[in-house]
Formats: sequence, structure tokens, C-alpha cells
Amino acid sequence: MGESPEQKAKRLREEIERHNYLYYVLDKPEITDEEWDKMFRELLALEAEHPELRTPDSPTQRVGAKPSSKFASHRHIVPMLSLDNAFGFDELGEFDARVRKALGITDESVEYIGEPKFDGLSLSITYENGVLKVASTRGDGEEGEDVTPNARTIRSIPLRLRTEVEGIIEVRGEVLLDRAEFERINASMRDAGAQEFANPRNAAAGTLRQLDPRITASRKLTFWAWGLGAQGSLEFDRQREIVDFLRSAGFRVSEHIRLLNGLDACKAYVEDYTARRRELPFDIDGLVFKVDSIRHQRQLGFTARGPRWAIAYKFAAEQATTKLLGITWQVGRTGTVTPVAELEPVQVGGVTIARATLHNIEDLHRKDVRVGDSVIVQRAGDVIPEVVSPILDKEHSKRPVPTPPEKCPVCETPLVKREAEVALRCPNKTCPAQVAERIVHYVSRSAMDIEGLGEKLVLRLLELGFLEDVSDIYRLKERKGELIELDRMGEQSVSNLLNAIEATKSRPLNRFLFALGIRHVGESLAFSLAKHFSNLDSIRSASYEELLRVPDVGPNTAAEIVEYFQEEENRILIDKLLGLGVQPLPISSAATGENDPIAGKTFVFTGKLEHMTREDAEELVRRLGGTAATSVSKKTDYVVAGPGAGSKEAKAKELSIPILTEDEFLELVPKEAV
Ligand code: IVH
Repeated sequence: MGESPEQKAKRLREEIERHNYLYYVLDKPEITDEEWDKMFRELLALEAEHPELRTPDSPTQRVGAKPSSKFASHRHIVPMLSLDNAFGFDELGEFDARVRKALGITDESVEYIGEPKFDGLSLSITYENGVLKVASTRGDGEEGEDVTPNARTIRSIPLRLRTEVEGIIEVRGEVLLDRAEFERINASMRDAGAQEFANPRNAAAGTLRQLDPRITASRKLTFWAWGLGAQGSLEFDRQREIVDFLRSAGFRVSEHIRLLNGLDACKAYVEDYTARRRELPFDIDGLVFKVDSIRHQRQLGFTARGPRWAIAYKFAAEQATTKLLGITWQVGRTGTVTPVAELEPVQVGGVTIARATLHNIEDLHRKDVRVGDSVIVQRAGDVIPEVVSPILDKEHSKRPVPTPPEKCPVCETPLVKREAEVALRCPNKTCPAQVAERIVHYVSRSAMDIEGLGEKLVLRLLELGFLEDVSDIYRLKERKGELIELDRMGEQSVSNLLNAIEATKSRPLNRFLFALGIRHVGESLAFSLAKHFSNLDSIRSASYEELLRVPDVGPNTAAEIVEYFQEEENRILIDKLLGLGVQPLPISSAATGENDPIAGKTFVFTGKLEHMTREDAEELVRRLGGTAATSVSKKTDYVVAGPGAGSKEAKAKELSIPILTEDEFLELVPKEAV
């Protein structure tokens, strides 16, 4: 009744944001999803009809921004500092003593605010007169990366504050993934044959620093506010008022924040949350204690590292006790032989562990663990569990001290130990374990990416004598008939496999270098090498000094690379690969490496392109370090569809693979590369 389109749009925007807040921040929806959808669609329709009503803070603007090719940098108004750590109650006591001394408080206790220490990625969000302007990562503390389009997709970040605030403020907090969402993302990575994330923190970081906001939007990140940088016209007397302000401005603020009177209350809080940390739906790696009085905070000031008025109390790594059932020796790709503890399965930090690393023989002896001992195992924040120490019972000394094998457990070649290295090594480059690991590595997704050739099949082909070294992969086509005869292979899958193998003959140079499995040469270093030298020949003949000029190459790595290309077996292998038609493609100097929208990604082009031929587009992708494939699969990162695209576009939709127009694709390409 009498409502102008403008008024209606405003009303809908406010209503939708209010319901978003109830749903995403307070977890207390007042309407059904259908009702919300109806309102949202109404607003979308209204904005389509009157585009001038589409404001930047409209809830319809949370998704849909186009991917950018890199992040701009953003300078923080107030630098983002770090915190000092305290491990254990003694160090916490020292912190309290320092605070009291500096403030001249002797007989009273200091009031602290205790908070969970979120294990995520810090983000600073700038609001100007209450409207979100920029969201930036921490970076080096002074300058971070502008990730605004991604941050906009996080529903718990208000696009407009719920309270009036004049001037510019920087809201600081942590971006997180719940454990459940982390599991969900990893399961889909697994399905797609992609590398899984090691932990929720890495997954949150990878998601926030995605160049494609649509991917960020598809994963449920949450933002938890813990403080302010620039404060505009705001003034506070107490830290707890900042907490209240953040909550009323529309942010998620932890419900586990407490006001604590003195050191003893802080210790009790630590005890409480050490036991309860698993109750929280996301990971916390400790607790943060902050002096409550802002006047006192000012008096205490800062060190170069962080505030003197706050400390991070770090939890000890999670540990459990179990029985050591045996020690096995594992041979890696480069011949390193490492002891592995075989354990009675036990739960540590929410996951079951049956094996743990013992690092190397010296570590094993220093810790004096023996088969049959009860041992303490831990997961130190991250993934690889390790054995910490044995529990010395009466029987311990009667158990035999484990001895390292003298011969390789796989090929029986006598093991060697290089000077200045603790690792035992199998010097036999043709050791089946090493060969298998090398081939598995060569064909893996981030290396040459041969679809249909996984670890199991590699081992089977080795066993049956189809493979002796990596180059034999390219000879498999000579034995097609025999392959088809193999159990569970069949004509079609063998053809697919052989086609997939042929396709790897023209992979970008960086992938080929990584696939060779040179020690110290990981994906990103392979990229730097490929970019610096532009072709394989110049890398093969590069001297130690020349290699040192490559960004990220240090003395050890340079020496390893020289040694690799000098060794006869490796020279023969590479010549064989080249002789069989492998021709690594040079990558363009315009490719940027890490977080590159094209390098390492797989594109499929379909339909008619306006600005270039399909072949040119594919060549462009390869020069930029990406892969151009012809068929759409779960491994495809993007489908670029022009007019007349048919089944490939349909398949992409079915697999929820992002579909780009030619123009959107060209936006990913650095200008100088076209
Ligand atoms: S307060 C001046 N509170 O931990 C810095 N930080 O290890 C004040 N963090 O850089 C930081 N939870 O990114 C604060 N409740 C919390 C936090 C928290 C996580 C992060 C933050 C900080 C890092 C220090």
C-alpha cells in the first residue's frame, strides 16, 4: 500500500539481513527457509526490474562476484600484531606477575577477560560509517591481502553494522571452519581425486584465499570477532565493553568468554576448557587472556611482537597411551628408511591412530622405545602422529632394544648412512619400493596426473613385470593386448588409460620437474624453476651458482638438483622419457605460481570461442602452467563454454564444476600473457 519500489527494496533488505543475523549469528531463526527464500526472490526480482536499487550492502550481493587474478594489498590502519605464548601454569603466572609489576599492583588481583583462541585465519574488516568496505588478511601485520569479495560471502560477517558507528573502524577476528564442514569438504576433495586439506585451519585459509569467491561461498566459513583495530568515534573503558559492542554490532562473539578475577580464576578457566575443548564445534589451540581495564592496557603498551596486556595460553598437544605392537621399516621415494610404530589402535584428539612415526633411528634410540612397551603418542596440532616416549614399566629393560635393519627390508641391499645425516638410506635406485614410490609419485594428480593409474594398479603392473621404471609407462601401449587380458581391465579402460598416458607427454615443465621427484623440489619450487629457466635443457645443465639465483632455491636444494641431474641413472631416465616423446611445455613468464587461477588447474573448452581458437586457448592454459583436458570429469576445475556447447556443459553442471564464459576465462589470464 503506497510503498515505493525504493521503500520496498529497503524494507526487504533490512528484513533479510535481520533474518540472516538470527540464522547465521544467533542460530535462532524466526521464519522457515521457504519464507526466507520468498523474500529473497522478491528482492532479486525488484532489483532486476530497478537495477539502481541494488546497493552494495544488499544481501543479494553476497555471492556472484567474478574471480580476480590476484589479490590487491591493503594497508591496515592499526597494525595487526601477534601475541606472546605461555605454555603451562608457570608461564601464565609469570605473565600475571609482569602485568602486576608494571601496573604497580601488589595486593589486589587483576581482572582478565578469558577467551578461546580460535585456530583459524585472522581477518580485519574495515567499516566506514557502518558499511563494510574492505576485508583483509593479516599479511605481514602492516599490509595484508584484500579478500573483500570472499569475505562478503561469509554470512556471519555483517555487510552493515547493526549499531550506528561514525568514522572508520577495523573489526578483527578469525575465520574458521567447523570440524563437520571440514570433513565434508575433504570428503568431496577425496571424491574428486584432489589433495585433501591437512586440518581445518589450512582448509579455512585455502578457502578464504580462493581467487574464485563462488568457491568460498560454497563452503561454510564463519567469522568470530575478537577485537578492534581502528576505533572511529568509539570509546571503551573495559575489554568486556568491546566484546559487548562487537556482539551488538552483529558479529558472532564466543559465548565462552569470561571475566576472570586474578590468576587462580585464569587457571580454573584453563582447566575447564582443556577438558571441554572438544565440545566446541571448531578447533581452538589455546585460550587468550586480556587485561580488562583499557586504562591498564594503555599503561602496559606493546612490544614489537604484541601487546603486553594479553597472552595466548597454548594447549599441550593431545596425547594418549597405547601399546607398541611392532616396528616396521618403510622405504620412501628417495630411499630413506624410516621406523614406523605399529600401535594398538587408540583415539587421540578425536581420531583413531594405529601407526605413528618414530622419525629416524636416533630418535628411536634417544626415546628408548621397545616393542611391547606402553607408549605415549601425540598429535601435535597437525596431522602426523608421533611416539613421544615409553612408559617405563618393570618389563621395559627386559625387552630387546630395537635394531635398525642392515639391509633394505624390500630389496635387501645393504643400507648406508650419509655423513651429517641421521637417515638410513637404501642406495639401490632400482629397489622395488623406491621404484614403486617414484612411479606412484610421477603419475599422481599434482604431478603428471594420469587418470586411471593409481597406486594399486602401479603395484600390480610392477609385480607383473609391465613396469620397471617410470619410462615404461610410455611403453605400455606396445603391450595393449596383454593389458586387456588382465583381470578387471578390459578394452575400454585400457584405451582410456593409454590415452591418458599419451596426454601427459605435453604437460607443463613445472609438473614434469615435480614428477621427477627430485629431493627438495616440491610443487611450488618446480614452478619457480620452470619459470626461471623456461626449458628442461637449461635446468639440466644449470650450475650450482645459476640455481642459487632462482627465487626460493637455497644451497641444499641447489646441491640436490645438481646432483640429481649428474647421476647417470637419472640422465638415462630423462633421455628415455624424451626419446619416448615426452616434451614438457615451457610455461609463460606471466604465470604467477601460488594461488594462480590457471597454474595447476584443469580446464575444458567447449563450444565456439569468439576471440581465439580452441587450440590457442588450450595452449595458453598450458603455457600458464595449467592443464587443458578434452573431457569433463571430477578433476576438471573449470569448463569454458561458448555458444553451441552441449554435453560437456551439461556434465559440468551435473558435477557442479564452475562454468565460465570466454570473457570470464580471459579475466583469469594475466594481460601480458594474451
Ligand atoms: S587478541 C594485538 N583474541 O591469535 C593482537 N587473538 O597468536 C591481539 N587469535 O594474531 C590478539 N583467537 O589472529 C586475540 N580470542 C582471540 C584470538 C586471537 C585467535 C589469533 C589472532 C592473533 C593470534 C596470535
